[in-house]
Amino acid sequence: MKIYLILFLALLTGFSSLIAQEDLLVNVYNRNTTSLNGEWKYIIDPYENGYYNYRYKPFDQQEFPWASAFFLNSKPKDSSDLLEYDFDKMDNIDVPGDWNSQKPELLYYEGTVWYKKSFDYSISKESNRVFVYFEASNYKTEVYFNGKKLGTHIGGFTPFNFEITDLVKGQDNFLIVKVDNKRLKEGVPTLNTDWWNYGGLTRDVKVIETPENFIQDYFVQLDPDNNKLIKGNISLKGDNVKQKKVQLSIPALKIEEQFLTDQNGTVDFEIVSNKIDYWSMENPVLYEVKIQTEEEELNDQIGFRSIKTKGAQILLNDQPVYLKGISIHEENPIRGGRAHSLEDAEQLLDWAQDLGCNYVRLAHYPHNEHMVRLADKKGILVWEENPVYWTIEWENEETYRNAETQLSELIERDKNRAAVIIWSMANETPNVEARNVFLNKLASFSRAKDNTRLISAALEQKDYNGNPLVRTINDPFAEVVDVLSFNQYIGWYDGLPEKCGTITWEIEQDKPVLISEFGAGAKEGFHGDKNTRWTEEFQEDLYIQTLSMINKIEQVQGFSPWILVDFRSPRRVLPEIQDGWNRKGLISESGNKKKAFFILQNFYNNLNKKR
Ligand code: GCU
Repeated sequence: MKIYLILFLALLTGFSSLIAQEDLLVNVYNRNTTSLNGEWKYIIDPYENGYYNYRYKPFDQQEFPWASAFFLNSKPKDSSDLLEYDFDKMDNIDVPGDWNSQKPELLYYEGTVWYKKSFDYSISKESNRVFVYFEASNYKTEVYFNGKKLGTHIGGFTPFNFEITDLVKGQDNFLIVKVDNKRLKEGVPTLNTDWWNYGGLTRDVKVIETPENFIQDYFVQLDPDNNKLIKGNISLKGDNVKQKKVQLSIPALKIEEQFLTDQNGTVDFEIVSNKIDYWSMENPVLYEVKIQTEEEELNDQIGFRSIKTKGAQILLNDQPVYLKGISIHEENPIRGGRAHSLEDAEQLLDWAQDLGCNYVRLAHYPHNEHMVRLADKKGILVWEENPVYWTIEWENEETYRNAETQLSELIERDKNRAAVIIWSMANETPNVEARNVFLNKLASFSRAKDNTRLISAALEQKDYNGNPLVRTINDPFAEVVDVLSFNQYIGWYDGLPEKCGTITWEIEQDKPVLISEFGAGAKEGFHGDKNTRWTEEFQEDLYIQTLSMINKIEQVQGFSPWILVDFRSPRRVLPEIQDGWNRKGLISESGNKKKAFFILQNFYNNLNKKR
């Protein structure tokens, strides 16, 4: 009943595409789950023939959907019956994993693919509740279970779940998912990006079982203004969650506190502790945190640290830090396709640490949870970004709600991860009024949801007072962010590397500055003089010249050059050099380090420790 009410309200409020989102289950990493990873059946459906009837009406909005609706998983009634699909006779595709890198015929495919997974399920306790949880699916996902529509999710990089308690059976359940990765003008991101549009169930899918009344959400973090105070909230969900006992324990801090939930099943708490061993890059200590109710016990591993700014400094636990970073796309180019596994995360973060990094910019969208959980363990600071990229439809209310929902899902998933210090609102967006309104709303939303982290966005640099030899940030959003970040490509898109030596910078805001991108393309193994574009020597010289220029900007507290590894992009088609790859990686798609890698590694390893 609830789902129809949400949809009805959505239509009333004019957000026809406001999708019925269920409350996200937090800390799935440590919950009791059954994996649905593995081989699924799939049907490629570019005409969406399994979704629309011939009058282009969605089958799932018909009172009695035709048998040809793919989500029914129909079978012929008898030998005379007409049916033009059969999932069980189709080929298999692996989940998790984008379809582009698994099926050569789908490398450039943009459209709908249907997935089907059949499974038996024995619930461990009759009164328990059962959910199906998707870590991500790109881009628009319609989920059906045993022939019933559960709901729709929009956005390719954040988790979502639907309850199946009343639908799940002991045998022969079938989960059918329509994934459509078509790029949309009103989308977030919009039509044009500089990365591959990997489609599909790109991350894990699992079944989660919870007690009837369960721990849906919690936030446990250091008070930003008092590092002796652990504060946060816990939310229970179910029909019997009012005035319920909840216990929060952190054994290593000898903390064991009992609370009672309020009328809404939530509790806010503050706990003083003088013994906290603060999480840092040198000492990434994670505490075992246990939350218990009469029906459930949930464990998490949480680091306590404060992150703030003071003038042009970034302070981690009140100590200035210099962010030795690198930008990363979520791709494992050696295996091919979207990165999704712990092994992929280990590969990418090991490369970053080999480079000498203590910080990574996860561009341009939320990466999988393995990346942030591993950064927590390794002591690597993290910038996470909402895919408000380039020129989206700033005046479209549904586009704003889409962006806000994706940011909300990111914060809900990662708010307990100490390593995450920056929420980035956007990348390279135009300084126009509609965008300023849009981003200001997004920043306010982000701060209201989580005031323990810094806000930034990758802005663009401009000439200072019309003088092309002096650069600055001339952007009203620079007044809103905590950390001023900008991409600059002097020496690549703007002159040659030697131009860096002619440029000075005038940064007027008294804020920390992170240069979120600079870089140059190089085909690994292509050598020549440093003025020959696409040679490793050209890229190497760009890094030498840029690092020298950056070192003179006193507010700079770090940077994340573009980019760790070459990555696929349909925009990059120069034969023999790009061939569908953006070549600004310091490492090639076969894992070989280019000469510029060692320039940056040397710079980071020789930075005086105070910086
Ligand atoms: C931009 C953008 C990146 C892009 C890069 C490039 O700054 O943020 O997504 O890949 O430049 O042109 O290579």
